[in-house]
Amino acid sequence: MKFSKAILVVVATAGICLAQPPAPLLIDVGHRTTISLNGPWHAIVDPYDTGLKDYRSHLRSQDGFFQNAKPKTPQDLIEYSFDKSETLNVPGDWNTQRPALLFYEGTVWYEKSFVFHPKPNIRVFLHLGAANYLSIMSVNGTVVCDHEGGFTSFNCEVTAALREGENFVVIYVNNQRKAEGVPTLSTDWWNYGGLTRDVQLVEVPERFIQDSFLHLVPGTLDQISGWVKLSDTTSGQKITVRIPELTLEKSVLTDRAGVAEFSFSAASLRRWSPEQPKLYKVELESGSDRVEDEIGFRSIEVRGHDILLNGSPLFLRGVSIHEEAPYRSGRAYTEDDAKILLGWAKELGANFVRLAHYPHNEHMLRMADRMGLMVWSEIPVYWDIKWDNPATLANAETQLTENITRDKNRASIVIWSVGNETPVTDARTKFMRSLVKTARGLDSTRLISAALQVQHRDGSTRIIDDPLGADLDVLGCNEYIGWYEGKPEDADKANWKSPYDKPLIMSEFGGGARYGLHGAADLRFSEEWQEDLYKHQTAMLDRIPFLRGTSPWILMDFRSPRRMLPGIQDFYNRKGLVSDQGQKKKAFYVLKKWYEAKAAHEPEY
Ligand code: GCU
Repeated sequence: MKFSKAILVVVATAGICLAQPPAPLLIDVGHRTTISLNGPWHAIVDPYDTGLKDYRSHLRSQDGFFQNAKPKTPQDLIEYSFDKSETLNVPGDWNTQRPALLFYEGTVWYEKSFVFHPKPNIRVFLHLGAANYLSIMSVNGTVVCDHEGGFTSFNCEVTAALREGENFVVIYVNNQRKAEGVPTLSTDWWNYGGLTRDVQLVEVPERFIQDSFLHLVPGTLDQISGWVKLSDTTSGQKITVRIPELTLEKSVLTDRAGVAEFSFSAASLRRWSPEQPKLYKVELESGSDRVEDEIGFRSIEVRGHDILLNGSPLFLRGVSIHEEAPYRSGRAYTEDDAKILLGWAKELGANFVRLAHYPHNEHMLRMADRMGLMVWSEIPVYWDIKWDNPATLANAETQLTENITRDKNRASIVIWSVGNETPVTDARTKFMRSLVKTARGLDSTRLISAALQVQHRDGSTRIIDDPLGADLDVLGCNEYIGWYEGKPEDADKANWKSPYDKPLIMSEFGGGARYGLHGAADLRFSEEWQEDLYKHQTAMLDRIPFLRGTSPWILMDFRSPRRMLPGIQDFYNRKGLVSDQGQKKKAFYVLKKWYEAKAAHEPEY
């Protein structure tokens, strides 16, 4: 049995050391032949990792829970049974499915049995939308891969492990926080564990289209370019790209890396924008494989303090969102969850959302594509990560790569963020610069940012001069004047400046309010305090000359282990403009009014 370093930490005493990372990520699986494994899975809660290690913490390589063993004789000693174990729904976090698991951080084993019929010349991948945090995947007792990181998609090839008829998958999931993890030990969001997004088998031909990237050539409004990559390095393979609605078709042969590069002129292209979220059906064909996708084409760039969409300057009227399910709480994962959350953002008058602090499920991005909301996508390099630990950096790089690989064809995404509120040290800045470099290497068509904090003040002037600002296209800054810092009216005297000739997005500001709690504006957690705070904030923001966007904290109240004020927070961060039950607070209307005024002055694209 082979495991990656991360898993070895779990089974450190075993001393086995072969990596088994996931296979290259299949993109656009929604348009592939798939067999869903969603639904009830048998689940064993295993706080001591008994299914993985024996009492001496040695790896149970022969009799661990991956085997899904069943007694063959009445004398057999098998001290677990998936069949007799209760189920948990997949997708879904385990914390909100059973009261006893609300605070649970540890291991849960998932098992699913299914009938499968292998097809000739067809390869099969086990694809997971996400599993928080460490996971080991096995099919019919064979471990096929492992993964670290709770918010990105991954897949393992299972063609050889599957058989005709009855099959079973066993997945080990552990969500214990760890200092060298990404995120690390402390977060202001609930550590929802489990198979939190869709799980499916994906069928592809022997040689298939592994990856593709289509986009407008930066700085142009009608030049499309991109590449298609095969699952192997076959050269001379004809690849055809078609955009039927634009009567565009082009065939190109792959190079020795199995990649075909191409470019088109698209004179009649309608560019994607919030006002006109135009998506085109795109067809890709290579030999025995064919995939299609809905893709929008738009350009995004910066020029001095301006952010330009399709060549025109704009203001990003946004709001931050956690992947918390509206009404029922827990990890959001459905298309309806996305529709509700993004629908509230649209009601606010937003044309932009900051998906915090980790890549959200693919439904969110595809819904943003369709609804016309620009997106700030972020990886959970959050607060104080182990900056000097090479494994931590490799982990962050992998999460960033998985994020960009899955979502690079989503027109809605305009910004890749490499982190949030990270302390200014040399080790941190070196770490973050490496991530910026990786992001630029993977995608030169989007803007790179991070949520920084004020480093210096000169009287009432806040200065955004974090050294990392030099490497970013857009400065993000979080500030809490009127909540953690001073009174709401202190914003009236606050000025802002930065040595960088770059646009600023105020990526967080806000304050808490318990929906329905009313009183004077100086009553903490009253709707009136939050309302007053937003009035002072929006007036201050209007005075910042290089401000080009805002994503206040936060659209909806969300669960947090750091918020335990009884009767007010009850383990919820209450900075939402909407309660977790969809009730709009007074501040919602302050921001809506401000955005409507801003939209009224926005130039047409
Ligand atoms: C921070 C942080 C958020 C957090 C928020 C808050 O700035 O980025 O994750 O929830 O502040 O304190 O409410």
